[in-house]
Amino acid sequence: MPGAIYAEGLVKTFGDVRALDGVDLDVPEGTVLGLLGPNGAGKTTTVRCLTTLLRPDSGKAVVAGIDVLKQPNEVRRSIGLSGQFAAVDEYLTGRENLHMVGQLYQMRAKQAKVRAVELLEQFHLTDAADRPAKTYSGGMRRRLDLAAALVVSPPVMFMDEPTTGLDPRNRQQLWEVIKDLVSGGTTLLLTTQYLEEADHLAHEIAVVDHGRVIARGTADQLKARTGGERVEVVVHEREHIETASEVLRGFGKGDTTVEQHTRKLTVPVTGGAKLLAEVIRELDTRGIEIDDIGLRRPTLDDVFLSLTGHHAEAEDQENGTGEDAKAGKNKKETAK
Ligand SMILES: Nc1ncnc2c1ncn2[C@@H]1O[C@H](COP(=O)(O)OP(=O)(O)OP(=O)(O)O)[C@@H](O)[C@H]1O
Ligand SMILES: [Mg+2]
Repeated sequence: MPGAIYAEGLVKTFGDVRALDGVDLDVPEGTVLGLLGPNGAGKTTTVRCLTTLLRPDSGKAVVAGIDVLKQPNEVRRSIGLSGQFAAVDEYLTGRENLHMVGQLYQMRAKQAKVRAVELLEQFHLTDAADRPAKTYSGGMRRRLDLAAALVVSPPVMFMDEPTTGLDPRNRQQLWEVIKDLVSGGTTLLLTTQYLEEADHLAHEIAVVDHGRVIARGTADQLKARTGGERVEVVVHEREHIETASEVLRGFGKGDTTVEQHTRKLTVPVTGGAKLLAEVIRELDTRGIEIDDIGLRRPTLDDVFLSLTGHHAEAEDQENGTGEDAKAGKNKKETAK
């Protein structure tokens, strides 16, 4: 039996761009699917097709047991959506925005009021509740938008990058809200650029690239597929990157990744601490000074890198945020 969210062969083209190239998904009831993928992979397009906002060129979609293409209105009644760009009415206050959503869902006025108070509290918007939303900061708008998606508790929820733009504290709090929601039986499809978020919340992860699901599984399954541990070395001198790469190639079980701007080299290995000691000896013999070296388990970012050829969280982490910094970080050099 198909799950609460089911898609088969979804295709959507925009002119020459094949945004979706046969997306298949199956999300069991009461679970969270994390849709991960680089910019332009087709995440938002998938969400829009499943939530009736966009009609796919071909394929099949069933949400909450209802055919999305045949009965879009019925689907709309069974789902909640928080889009990538917050959809709040700028001129209404936070409280009014939530009342309005309640009314759209035909809640009684009193019930809608009570629900608004609860949500304003939950999303730390009580103090700003009676200010027009246009005076809110980006993070506040995002929270209001998420609150609006939760006015009614639909059986199936879609959240497109729900925590982008939230500070760490608000992100943590939203994770708690999401966990509560799911423990209450809601099925959730969420897209995210944050691997930690997918690791934390998703029962299953689907990695999307170029409009296709290229891998799926639990975070642990995906990590296991990427194989073994990683040796990570930061060399002291940029000039030593080349030689260090050569050394690692001799010990590695796969491609060596080089981040030029941080002088960091990473290679998958098997052999644990003993091998690490050998690597250190060899680097020493070759006269390569190192700032840092260590052994670590693969992360979801390694999974992402080995599948798509680049990191997932391009902008957020490193010091540089400009295009150059991104290009530097995303630079993948392979040494076979
Ligand atoms: N309305 C549209 N018209 C033309 N092209 C579109 C439209 N919507 C999406 N696309 C294209 O389809 C592809 C997939 O876009 P989509 O928004 O689904 O990506 P995404 O995975 O959500 O990316 P992001 O991480 O940047 O949000 C992109 O190449 C995008 O330019
Ligand atoms: Mg998107």
